Amino acid sequence: MKPNYLSNNPLLITATNNAIKRRIESERHDAVLMAERAGIVPDLWQCDLLRSNAKQLILNCSRQSGKSTITSILALHQAIYKPDSLILLLSPSLRQSQELFRKLQDFYNALESSSLPTATEESALRMELSNGSRIIALPGKEATIRGFSGVALLIIDEASRVEDSLYQSVRPMLAVSGGRIILLSTPFGKRGFFHQEWTNGIGWQRTKITASDCPRIDKEWLDRERAMIGDWWHRQEYNCEFLETTDSVFNFNDIEKAISKSVEPLIFKEIGL
Ligand SMILES: Nc1ncnc2c1ncn2[C@@H]1O[C@H](COP(=O)(O)OP(=O)(O)O)[C@@H](O)[C@H]1O
Ligand SMILES: [Mg+2]
Repeated sequence: MKPNYLSNNPLLITATNNAIKRRIESERHDAVLMAERAGIVPDLWQCDLLRSNAKQLILNCSRQSGKSTITSILALHQAIYKPDSLILLLSPSLRQSQELFRKLQDFYNALESSSLPTATEESALRMELSNGSRIIALPGKEATIRGFSGVALLIIDEASRVEDSLYQSVRPMLAVSGGRIILLSTPFGKRGFFHQEWTNGIGWQRTKITASDCPRIDKEWLDRERAMIGDWWHRQEYNCEFLETTDSVFNFNDIEKAISKSVEPLIFKEIGL
């Protein structure tokens, strides 16, 4: 067999190793570079997200727009480059949290470099790295999260479907640890913490991406999907609109007007006061 002169050349090996080290050093400061090496060329909004320093990120993005993908890359970047980070992945069910975790694992495996922290412990639901970072997938139930402290990054996927009690129990936890939070979802009616934070929350970096903003979602496919699931679902799932629940007797905006001090009550107008 012919010897492979190139791969045995010590100068070339050193040059290659140095190039990899330089690249990894650049990735430390720019998660977009890490995403690219893991096989994803982020959309512009995904780049903005990866480069954001905001402590609170809220993504109201269409189904299939790539919100779970980019959030899992963001979480992986934190785990690799910020040692001792505790990262929790939550969603309405353990199965969905596990899916997000699997994306993160796939990207970690795709990076395959000896210069990165190694996985010292790995299962279908958690990964621990040699730099002390931990990533844990959990079901979105208040009881499961109560035992954790010092959370550096908390991700709530499909947040509009997660119970408010969970959110109420994690807020103080983050205040103590100074950690980051990312809520990602499509809307699910004008209710719950996801709707509340999106419309009135303070200190959030908001990202809204409809299906037509996403280069990978085909217009004809979208039209067929609308015919199948109906306009109400379609507007929420693909157009990011918070709509009334189908069975509500009163319109949400009317209720809000009735209790808001800044809005003139309708009843007084009608009786001429
Ligand atoms: N920037 C990107 N380039 C190529 N494919 C992408 C990109 N972002 C996401 N995807 C792909 O799009 C699909 C939907 O992504 P996902 O993150 O599951 O969407 P969402 O969570 O918004 O429903 C997946 O197959 C994912 O690999
Ligand atoms: Mg998703």
